[in-house]
Amino acid sequence: HLWSPVTGKNRFFDAAEPFELISEFGSPLYVYNESIFRARCREMRNLVSYPRFFVNYSVKANSNLTLLRIAREEGLLADAMSPGEIFVEEAAGYTSDEILYISNNVSEAEMRYAIDRGIMVSVDSLSQLEMFGRLCPGGKVCVRVNTGVGAGHHAKVITGGKKTKFAVDPSLFDDMREILRSHRLSLAGLNQHIGSLFMEPGKYLEGVSALLALAHTFEDLEFIDFGGGFGIPYEKAAGQPRLDLADLGSKLDAILHDFARTYGKSIAFKVEPGRYIAAESCVLLGTVHAVKENYGHRYVGTDVGFNVLARPMIYDSHHDIELYRASDTPFSDLYPVTVVGNICESGDILAKDRVLPQAQEGDIIGILDAGAYGYSMSSNYNNRLRPAEVLLREDGTVKLIRRRDTLDDLLRNF
Ligand code: LLP
Repeated sequence: HLWSPVTGKNRFFDAAEPFELISEFGSPLYVYNESIFRARCREMRNLVSYPRFFVNYSVKANSNLTLLRIAREEGLLADAMSPGEIFVEEAAGYTSDEILYISNNVSEAEMRYAIDRGIMVSVDSLSQLEMFGRLCPGGKVCVRVNTGVGAGHHAKVITGGKKTKFAVDPSLFDDMREILRSHRLSLAGLNQHIGSLFMEPGKYLEGVSALLALAHTFEDLEFIDFGGGFGIPYEKAAGQPRLDLADLGSKLDAILHDFARTYGKSIAFKVEPGRYIAAESCVLLGTVHAVKENYGHRYVGTDVGFNVLARPMIYDSHHDIELYRASDTPFSDLYPVTVVGNICESGDILAKDRVLPQAQEGDIIGILDAGAYGYSMSSNYNNRLRPAEVLLREDGTVKLIRRRDTLDDLLRNF
């Protein structure tokens, strides 16, 4: 049986499939759908008609090697935040000209890692611009700008605006020009990222316009990168509408054409979606191991701790939840329960007071839209094993795309 709060046919499974997948690959399990992942890549690629437009997949959302290869096949370039992300991107086939290293408070060695490979570096402070100048005099560099515009689903992920650690305050541009001059650097690009998850185009376009106004004061830019943040509706069961990408795209397109006409030099534009590409292509499966009542509160105890999915714990994020049942017992009436994991902290809560049918031991839960910042933020806390990841391919086959940790992995670094 399948119980889903989301109307319409479940996008992934018939009712039996979750049980087959878990019996083959273990629980919990990240299950991805190739065609949804590809569709999201294409939507982003087709966001505007402006010809020199590039989509840099922000791989922190999900850097599974197989998914990175698929993103590249779909024509996406990549962002990196660390040498580790560069390393994995190269393993997936990305070449140096396809990667933008958006550095934040990095060491000389970490900056050199990108420079040695010929990868464009974006710096986000004047001290790091100095560092770049020392390491790569005469080179090309990109600077991350904080235009003062910020947006996001939680204070912890708003990266633009006057109260964040990120990017260069435009009031320091004279000093920045001086550093560029003294190291003979050319400013090839400007980038920004206002924050993660907006559902209305307004703030993003405000950020775009603010950045372009500043860009006009630099003569030799090769590209301008507006960042990511494109939201997905996590509350589908409550009828949350989608971000109107067509509307955003057409407005953005007009702005880009306008800028290009007046800039006087051929210019490329980029966006950096992470969540939009990966989130909806994944259902995280877990198993119900206990149901209990504590002082009048009902709990459903699962194996999906915050080591597996951290978002609800860190940001109080909502993920819709489905139930799958192997036995003949029909699903009961709905009432509020708190769905928890197996980690030794009381904050280990997947969903608080969620309205679900009575769960039973052995039921499988499906946590929807778990493909972004799911596995990539998972950990071995409590010496728990991180789950496997599988891909439901377009040809109907299932492929293991990351094996589950083993106990031996827990001893690997000793
Ligand atoms: N570009 C930069 C420079 C970023 O820092 C980020 C995300 C992105 C692009 C992609 O943002 P997206 O399109 O995915 O919103 N762990 C949080 C989200 C953190 C985002 C960090 N930076 C979450 O689970 O909601």
